[in-house]
Formats: sequence, structure tokens, C-alpha cells
Amino acid sequence: MDIENKLVQFIKKYMSEDPTGHDVYHSKRVAKMAKKLVNFDKLTLSEEEVKILLSASYLHDVIDDKLTESKDIRIKEVEKFLVDNHVDVDAVMDIILNMSYSDNLKNKKKLSTIGQYVQDADRLDALGAIGIARAFAYGGHKGNLIYDPEINIKKDFDKETYRSQKSTSVNHFYEKLFKLKDLMNTNSGKKIAAKRTAFMEDFIAEFKEEW
Ligand code: ADP
Ligand code: NI
Repeated sequence: MDIENKLVQFIKKYMSEDPTGHDVYHSKRVAKMAKKLVNFDKLTLSEEEVKILLSASYLHDVIDDKLTESKDIRIKEVEKFLVDNHVDVDAVMDIILNMSYSDNLKNKKKLSTIGQYVQDADRLDALGAIGIARAFAYGGHKGNLIYDPEINIKKDFDKETYRSQKSTSVNHFYEKLFKLKDLMNTNSGKKIAAKRTAFMEDFIAEFKEEW
């Protein structure tokens, strides 16, 4: 079995049942997009580097503390998988432990070049038609309303506030999703983010009009 199939098999036991948009197909799209961005930007990766790119793409949400209460155990399991499959453990862990939006709210973490591609690919999956679907799925799962004009958009927040304070799914577009296009690392990522953001802006404008 090649590394990509092994990664899919490995994450299936953690992610198949997730109803919040962090399922196996999310990881597959991130891996596919990361490869696409690398090609667009004409970056040449060694075989080792491709393994790092794929591993970080598939594994990034397995250790996310919004999806698991046993982050430390998950980290150990992921590290074992990487060792068993001869992937550079430090390179992958450095990416997946530092790439999330919430962990970058106060201090921006410097990612490796490969990490920047994986982070952009993950962010692009929060945008566009799929991004809209994921935002409402996640918000519904958390018990948030679709929209409430009396709940204000949160400004300047840290990870705790971001995760804990009551918000609505529509507010999430202003609190995070519309900001992502200016946070993209890569040239190809910036272009796709601009297109997907314009689509979401149309969607929210139509939503407000119907409201
Ligand atoms: P990260 O894992 O990078 O910290 P998030 O916790 O924001 O980022 O989760 C990523 C995905 O979950 C995105 O698709 C995002 O739209 C969705 N999401 C996160 N928080 C919310 C929220 N409060 N309302 C709606 N969707 C959310
Ligand atoms: Ni993700």
C-alpha cells in the first residue's frame, strides 16, 4: 500500500463519524488541494517532502483539540504511524501542531514552506460552497443559531473567546472566514481564496436581503 492509502486507512478510525465538516473527505480535499497549489506555484518537492506534505494534510485534524479530548494520546499515535512509515516526524508534527487558525490568533507561528501549503489548503476548504456548508454544519453541531441580528460580531479575540463565546454561523463569516483571504501564504492559494471569498460575500448579501 502506498503512503496515501495508509494515511486514509489510519485516519478513518478517528474521522469517519465527524459531522462537523472534519471528516475523511475534508482531509482528502486538503491533500489534493495542497498538491495542486504546489504544482501551480511550480515548486519541486523531493519524495521525502511529498510524504511530509501528504502526512500533514491527512493528519492535521486528528490531533485537533476541538475534535478530541485525548490530544496527547492522539499525538503519540500519530508519531508512531510516522515512524513506522519512515516519514520525518518532526517536520510533520511542527506543521500540524502550529497550523490551526485558533493557535495563530495571538502569535503568528512561522511554518515551513510545506506547512504553508498545507495551511493554505486547509483554509481554502473553509471557503467557497463547501466552506459555507461546513460553517453551518459546525455551528449547528455546537448549538449555535444560523443568525441572530442581536448577537454582535466578536472583534479582537484570543483562542478561548473564539471557541467559548456564543456566536452565530453567519457571524463566523465575519469573525474568521472573510479574513482568511488576507492570511494566505502562497500565490496560488491567494488566487483561489479571492474567488471563493467573493462567492461567500454574494451568499451573505443574498442571505441578509432575504432576512
Ligand atoms: P482551526 O482548526 O484552524 O482552529 P476552526 O476551529 O475555526 O479552525 O475550525 C475550522 C472549520 O470549522 C472551518 O471550516 C470553520 O468554518 C468551522 N468553524 C469553526 N468555528 C465555527 C463557528 N463558530 N461557527 C461555524 N463554523 C465554525
Ligand atoms: Ni482541517
